Amino acid sequence: MNEGPATIPFLDLKSQFESIRTEILDAVERVLASGQFVGGEWVERFEEQFSHFVGSRYAIGVGSGTAALELALKAICIEAGDEVIVPANSFFATAEAVSNVGARPVFADVDPMTFHLDVARAERLVTPRTRAIIPVHLYGRAMHMAALQELAERHRLTIIEDAAQAHGTELDGIRVGGSGRLTCFSFYPGKNLGAYGDAGAVTCDDAGHAERLRLLRDHGSPAKYVHAIVGTNSRLDAIQAAVLSAKLRYLQDWNARRLQHAKVYAARFRNACIQIPDVPTGREHNFHLFVIRAKNRDALKLYLQARGIGTGIHYPQPLHLTPAYQELGYPSRGSLPVSEALASEILSLPMYPELTDSQIKQVSEVVLQFLDQAEAKELVSAGHGIAQLN
Ligand SMILES: Cc1ncc(COP(=O)(O)O)c(C=O)c1O
Repeated sequence: MNEGPATIPFLDLKSQFESIRTEILDAVERVLASGQFVGGEWVERFEEQFSHFVGSRYAIGVGSGTAALELALKAICIEAGDEVIVPANSFFATAEAVSNVGARPVFADVDPMTFHLDVARAERLVTPRTRAIIPVHLYGRAMHMAALQELAERHRLTIIEDAAQAHGTELDGIRVGGSGRLTCFSFYPGKNLGAYGDAGAVTCDDAGHAERLRLLRDHGSPAKYVHAIVGTNSRLDAIQAAVLSAKLRYLQDWNARRLQHAKVYAARFRNACIQIPDVPTGREHNFHLFVIRAKNRDALKLYLQARGIGTGIHYPQPLHLTPAYQELGYPSRGSLPVSEALASEILSLPMYPELTDSQIKQVSEVVLQFLDQAEAKELVSAGHGIAQLN
C-alpha cells in the first residue's frame, strides 16, 4: 500500500506531556495529597520561581492571561472614559481586557517587518483621554521598548506589556517581565510555558501594584471575610502552579529547540518568495509561533492541510474589524492597512520543541512545492505557455 506522508499537527501537546509524564504526575499527586487547591505553598513557590526567572520583584499568579491584563488595568485604575492604545494585530483578549474594565480600546496599526505596535502611528492616536498603552511581544518576539517608553513619558501614559506569548524572551539582557513595568503572561496550554488548564500571572517591581493585584484577584480580601476593595475571583490554582513549576525547569531548553527549528525553516525558505521572520542569534525571539507571510495564504493553507500538515492563523481578523468592535465605527477597509493585509496573508507553521528535523523538512518542502506551482501558474496565466499544472 502506498503510505502518504506522516501527519504533522500544528501543535502537539501530547508528546511534550509524554516527555515529562513522571514529574507532572508526581507534582499533581502531591497537590492532591496536600488537600490545598487554591492559593498556598504551590502558588507561592511558583510565583517566587517565576519572578526570579524573569527578574522581577513580584509575580502574582492569576486565573488566565486575560485576567492578568484586566487586573493590571484595574491596578492602575483604568476605568470608563479612559482610552487605551492596543495593536490591531493581536489576540482578542488584548483589547477585550480594556473593554472589560469599562475603557475604550484604540487600535494602532503594526510595523510591517516585526508586526509589533507601530509606535509612530500610535502617537497620532493619543488624546487627552489616553491613559495607557499595551504593546504585545507578538509571536514571542521581544518588542524594542525605547521609542515606546519615550512616547509614554512624553504623554504620561502607563505601559502594560502583553507577554502572553513571550516566556523566556529577552532583549539586551533583560527578560520580558523583568522591565519593572506591569507585564502580563498567559499560561494557556499551548504557550511556551503552558499549564494544563487556564492560568496567568502579572510581574512588576512596584510593591503597591503587587499588593493591589493580590487583593484584586481574591475578592479584594486581605484576610478572610474582610473586603477592602471590590475585586474578583481570579486566582491561580495549586495544581496549575505545581505543573508550571515542573515545566519552568525546561522552558529555556524548549525555547532553544524552537529557535533551532526556526533556523532550519529560515534556511530552507532563504530564496522563497514569502516573508519569513528574522531569526536573531540570542533570545530575542522564543518562536512561540513561526509566522510566514504569503500572497496566496488561503490556498497554501489548504494545500498543506491536504498533505497532512496543520497550520494556524494568528490572527484572521484585525481587532478593529471584529464584530465585537463594530460599534467603534472603523471603516471596513483601509483604516489600519498593515494589520488588514497581514490578516489575509499570515500563516503559522508547525512549531513546538518536539518537532523533528525531518518534519520541518517535510513542511518546508510542501510549502516550497506550493510556491513553485503557484509561480508557474502565474506564468501560465500571464501567457508564458507553460503546461497546465495539477
Ligand atoms: C497576545 C495574547 N494576549 C492575551 C492572551 C490571553 O491569555 P489567556 O488565553 O490565558 O486568557 C493571549 C492568549 O491566547 C495572547 O496570545
